[in-house]
Amino acid sequence: MHGPQAFLTCASFLLASAGFVSAQTPPNSFPNAWPGQPTGPLSPEWQRYFEVTQPLPNLTDAAILPRSFAGNIPVDRVGHPNDTFFFWGFEKVGQPGSLTAASYPDNSDPWILWVQGGPGSSGMLGLAVENGPIHVLPNYTWTVNPYSWNQLADTIWIDQPVGTGFSTADSTGYVADEDQMAEDFINFLQNLVKVFPSLATRPLYLAGESYAGHYIPYLLKHILPLDDPPVNIVKIAIGNGFIGSYGTNREIPVITLLESFPELIGYDSDVFNYFKEQHHLCGFDLNFTYPQTGGTFPPQLVASGQIANQTSKAKKQALFSTSSRKQFISEYSAHMHSNFDDMKRADVFERREEARSQWKRDLTGRPNGTIDPWYGCDVWQEMWDYAFNFTFPWKNGPLDTFDIPDALSPEIKLDPSVFLNDPRVRAALHAPLSKNWTQSFTYPFGNVYLTNTPNRHGDPSLEPAVFLTALFANASAKGIPWVFYSGNADSQDAHRSTEAVIQNFTFGGVQGFSRRPATPWYDDAGAPAGVVHQERNVSYVLFAGAGHLIPEYKPMQSLVFLREFILGDNPNGTVREDGSVVGGEDPALAQDYFFGGGEVFYGSSATQGTLVAPSATVASWESFLASATATTTPAPPSET
Ligand SMILES: *[C@@H]1O[C@H](CO)[C@@H](O)[C@H](O)[C@H]1NC(C)=O
Ligand SMILES: *[C@@H]1O[C@H](CO)[C@@H](O)[C@H](O)[C@H]1NC(C)=O
Ligand SMILES: *[C@@H]1O[C@H](CO)[C@@H](O)[C@H](O)[C@H]1NC(C)=O
Ligand SMILES: *[C@@H]1O[C@H](CO)[C@@H](O)[C@H](O)[C@H]1NC(C)=O
Ligand SMILES: *[C@@H]1O[C@H](CO)[C@@H](O)[C@H](O)[C@H]1NC(C)=O
Ligand SMILES: *[C@@H]1O[C@H](CO)[C@@H](O)[C@H](O)[C@H]1NC(C)=O
Ligand SMILES: *[C@@H]1O[C@H](CO)[C@@H](O)[C@H](O)[C@H]1NC(C)=O
Ligand SMILES: *[C@@H]1O[C@H](CO)[C@@H](O)[C@H](O)[C@H]1NC(C)=O
Ligand SMILES: *[C@@H]1O[C@H](CO)[C@@H](O)[C@H](O)[C@H]1NC(C)=O
Ligand SMILES: *[C@@H]1O[C@H](CO)[C@@H](O)[C@H](O)[C@H]1NC(C)=O
Ligand SMILES: *[C@@H]1O[C@H](CO)[C@@H](O)[C@H](O)[C@H]1NC(C)=O
Ligand SMILES: *[C@@H]1O[C@H](CO)[C@@H](O)[C@H](O)[C@H]1NC(C)=O
Repeated sequence: MHGPQAFLTCASFLLASAGFVSAQTPPNSFPNAWPGQPTGPLSPEWQRYFEVTQPLPNLTDAAILPRSFAGNIPVDRVGHPNDTFFFWGFEKVGQPGSLTAASYPDNSDPWILWVQGGPGSSGMLGLAVENGPIHVLPNYTWTVNPYSWNQLADTIWIDQPVGTGFSTADSTGYVADEDQMAEDFINFLQNLVKVFPSLATRPLYLAGESYAGHYIPYLLKHILPLDDPPVNIVKIAIGNGFIGSYGTNREIPVITLLESFPELIGYDSDVFNYFKEQHHLCGFDLNFTYPQTGGTFPPQLVASGQIANQTSKAKKQALFSTSSRKQFISEYSAHMHSNFDDMKRADVFERREEARSQWKRDLTGRPNGTIDPWYGCDVWQEMWDYAFNFTFPWKNGPLDTFDIPDALSPEIKLDPSVFLNDPRVRAALHAPLSKNWTQSFTYPFGNVYLTNTPNRHGDPSLEPAVFLTALFANASAKGIPWVFYSGNADSQDAHRSTEAVIQNFTFGGVQGFSRRPATPWYDDAGAPAGVVHQERNVSYVLFAGAGHLIPEYKPMQSLVFLREFILGDNPNGTVREDGSVVGGEDPALAQDYFFGGGEVFYGSSATQGTLVAPSATVASWESFLASATATTTPAPPSET
């Protein structure tokens, strides 16, 4: 069941970043030496120190957890002795002793390293709400997660780059760019295997999500040339990756997002046509062909509109709050907390409809074929603003760009910070005392807070999409296949952007996939879970009904995915030499978008309603869309 579970309040994403350098000094932090810390250099001696032996508060059924190890490990950056990564590693369920095993060359027990995104998000977030062994509940108690990835292999969750989560950095010790990130990461790995020597040779499955779409390719770029790499990477997996530019990740998917979630624009075909025109004028309507012809896609630049010249959040917020929206929101909240049905009062709706008609009239007045001067080519921003302004129930304040159908206000909050910052937990995890854990912070690349880089995160490094062809060739020479996976309900790093990245690079001598992904994959109950496609050592897996943090929404399916497509080599979706596909193809899946189901969850914290558009609205939208997309020829069905 797809339920509203996200916890991130994403209103800040409504506000496009503008050129901005803050004079604020980044925090200074350093690891803590807990009792019993060995005095000598890192070695297996340290295992006993890192082992998590003290009881964790608020955690029921802790007794069934396997052994775990946690603490800070330095990255040995010259001049920055306090720069560390934090890790929390769990042994595979039912395999005690595997992390502390002595090194022997033919140890083929896999291990997984999980890397969070952000930039500036903590791996403990992934542990606590996604694929980790213990999960935080809305009431701040914790429970054991039966779908944790350490069910299948030793798994280590880390905080990186330095300064993220419980990782530490001095005020001038933050990474300057992705190359320095990779150097720190390699040094961390070199030190990690001094403590757990078996990890140096055991097969490593390196997995991460979101901004790990930057981290993992850059780490590979730096680790592959090493004659004596610290670890033995055998596969990489990137979920909802930020691999391309801002334009690729945010803008290219806009039209397929509207096709998947027409509720964002109230099933209004005029509005759809308007967005389609803007998208086209900006050159974002990349055409995927299978096989991909016409060369690589040009870099996707986002021409600024006036919105980009708003220099501060405050200014932008002022603009939004002067409208009648503020009043709408307070009315909504008032009604929601008294009588929920009241919220649907006709006058509230009428006023919104009036505003919407006005917006459409304004469009009519604009010369045809021109780009919106306010948004420029930030069509993604415009799409969300439209939903926020006019479309029930998004018009209520918080919306979740990471999980489109979730319109809860407030969302269900899953907050690991109280637990992680508790003195007992810090002591058990050998965590620092010089800082408080936060799930995400704005990462100060180069020790300054900068948002005017092309990727809007202050990271000066080029997006990995520009060097994937060379990187894949190098990875392939070492036998390292790549897995890309996506949750269909994520608008931040939507699956269309991952497909654009795949269609744009050359692997196994050919650019992109030769056939449109259209093979269903199934969970252990035999229920369809999404789409899988594999060619020439690149796998692509789409999860139906999952937002950005995939295992949070689809825990069981994520474990099946891990077993079959990351740790395993399930061939479903593989194109054979004769062009047929293992597991067959479903013509209904062979299109650019994957329908999101048409349901919106709304209400306060717990779902109070599921909104589904009237069937007549849906029917008329469907016939509109069928004619609008008639030029897309579905792939012919094929046999298994
Ligand atoms: C590292 O942390 C220690 C405290 O443990 C502090 O005294 C020292 O100044 C820090 N070093 C740097 C280079 O920031
Ligand atoms: C917290 O929520 C869980 C799951 O709903 C419930 O089992 C548990 O009893 C609750 N604990 C407290 C202290 O309220
Ligand atoms: C994609 O194809 C459509 C229809 O042929 C065309 O109008 C559009 O310009 C193409 N997009 C790009 C970026 O070339
Ligand atoms: C496609 O790849 C080329 C390099 O081969 C790169 O220059 C271009 O920016 C990429 N396009 C996108 C949309 O990522
Ligand atoms: C932003 O401001 C600069 C300086 O005033 C101006 O040159 C530029 O045209 C503006 N950009 C937009 C999109 O309005
Ligand atoms: C612009 O003109 C084209 C061709 O006349 C028409 O199909 C389209 O609907 C117009 N777009 C808008 C937003 O008016
Ligand atoms: C949303 O409302 C704001 C404030 O009224 C307005 O500036 C903006 O243009 C609107 N955007 C859309 C896409 O409706
Ligand atoms: C433990 O749970 C209670 C609520 O059940 C919460 O108030 C408290 O802050 C939690 N403490 C920790 C350390 O997680
Ligand atoms: C951590 O948070 C507590 C409670 O909010 C605060 O008193 C303390 O100063 C914070 N510590 C650091 C190092 O920021
Ligand atoms: C691939 O390997 C070659 C040869 O070692 C190296 O020159 C090149 O920089 C590598 N490219 C990438 C993107 O890793
Ligand atoms: C996939 O990688 C393996 C291991 O490097 C290699 O033997 C095989 O030829 C590759 N397959 C394709 C289709 O490129
Ligand atoms: C792979 O395909 C077979 C045959 O269609 C199917 O029975 C099986 O469930 C599929 N496995 C997965 C993980 O989708």
